[in-house]
Amino acid sequence: MIFGRIKSLESILATAERKSLHRTLGAFQLTLFGIGCVIGTGIFVLTAAGAQKAGPGLMLAFAIAGAICIVAALCYAEIASMLPVAGSAYTYTYASMGEFLAWTVGWALVLEYAVAASAVCVGWSGYFTGTILDKSLGIHLPVWLTSAPLALGGVPGGFINLPAVCIAALITWLLMIGTTESARVNAVLVAIKVTALTAFVILTLPSDRFDTANFNPFLPAGVFGGFGTGVGAVGAAATIFFAYVGFDAVSTAAEETKNPQRNVPIGLIGSLLFCTVFYILVAAGAIGTIGGQPVMGPGGIPFPAGSEELARQCALPQYSEALVCSKEALAHVLRTIGWSNVGNMLGYAAGFALPSVILILMFGQTRIFFVMSRDGLLPEKLSAVHPRWKTPYIMTAITGAVVAIGAAFFPVGRLADWANAGTLYAFMMVAICVMILRRRAPDVVRSFRTPALWLIGPATIAGTIFLFFNLDMMSIMVFTGWAALGVVVYLVYGRSASRLGRGMDDADDADLGALQPPPGTL
Ligand code: ALA
Repeated sequence: MIFGRIKSLESILATAERKSLHRTLGAFQLTLFGIGCVIGTGIFVLTAAGAQKAGPGLMLAFAIAGAICIVAALCYAEIASMLPVAGSAYTYTYASMGEFLAWTVGWALVLEYAVAASAVCVGWSGYFTGTILDKSLGIHLPVWLTSAPLALGGVPGGFINLPAVCIAALITWLLMIGTTESARVNAVLVAIKVTALTAFVILTLPSDRFDTANFNPFLPAGVFGGFGTGVGAVGAAATIFFAYVGFDAVSTAAEETKNPQRNVPIGLIGSLLFCTVFYILVAAGAIGTIGGQPVMGPGGIPFPAGSEELARQCALPQYSEALVCSKEALAHVLRTIGWSNVGNMLGYAAGFALPSVILILMFGQTRIFFVMSRDGLLPEKLSAVHPRWKTPYIMTAITGAVVAIGAAFFPVGRLADWANAGTLYAFMMVAICVMILRRRAPDVVRSFRTPALWLIGPATIAGTIFLFFNLDMMSIMVFTGWAALGVVVYLVYGRSASRLGRGMDDADDADLGALQPPPGTL
């Protein structure tokens, strides 16, 4: 029975009980942690790709993606407060729908965490080469060293994004030697990001350059560009959804949270509401000042973001100032309206703070892999802990290699869309899990219950499916291919190696100590 092997809730909760991770995070720290994971490349960089898909309708796109994330967060909040254990959507699915589907979720989470980390590396590289190297130090790296190849969606003359590879390597090394971001460092980085975005809003919204004419036409590509086209406000929402990815990492921190039943829901929903409002204001500021109309192709349809055609158009002088062509969108807006120094400072803020998003995503990936290998679905050797560094160094190195390869050869927009595909699948599965567990285990304590679950749950499922099919066709295909590969790996390896399949339920196992993740403070 392929849909058998459901892990018992008792065994998952027993594993959580035995964990030795310190519970150090409170509601406020958790909200900060959420904001720290969430604000990154999505707002600092993908604003350009979003505007290319929707024009000023980008604001609507932020609202749509934010609304879908909020209903998904309400589902995450219930299940994370019920099962405060590592592994996030993977573990929840294991307890509700069994091992096979849990494996598909764990496999999809590689897109959410590792591929998203690649996207943030590329986003960081744009600010690093633009603001730090070029504008501040006068160092111009050649195009072939800073961009993905044209054939893979990069720019003419591009070959490898070396700065993105370097940051991936640096973060991998930090994680290997045991660096985890302390809550205090996270708080400082959140303050830097929020200050930079606040400055942006303050300088753009009341600016002389703000002109409501820039919002006309508001929806140059319509609301709905058609499934698989990736354009229109909904197509932009499917891309800009990336700007919210990461809030669910709060639920992966449940094991390290004091009073998780109360604090996890606060952290999830608080960080998300905060970011949604901020993003809409930032989009309004960017478009209101320098405009954000897409570069139109034949038939009045925007050229696909990240496409060769768009790259060629953006190389033309008339688009040199266009928001949709910028690699460092927000800094570019400030420079264009005469705030060059503040623009550079915003660039520094991004250069300084984005690596923490990479660190959190890669850390999340190693945790998910860790739990999967603890369950026997990945080789247990991969979770070997280094004797001195006390980190799962093999798994971290593999994660780092995957992230670096993605960052080297693909543009940020594509990576973000692929990450979104995996994330949307995971969110959908979480909504299904919550509904199943409400029916199957109504008496297990949940201090947070999703309000109107029978509306919110289906709304999450419908919203995630809708966004998924509004990604471009290539992302849908990449997801499908990745999922098919995952099924093969499961049938060849995981199915027979699974601990549960071999009759070893965690609750019976006293010997898990050696496989615990090293204590981290996040
Ligand atoms: N939401 C995160 C970002 O935008 C992943 O970088």
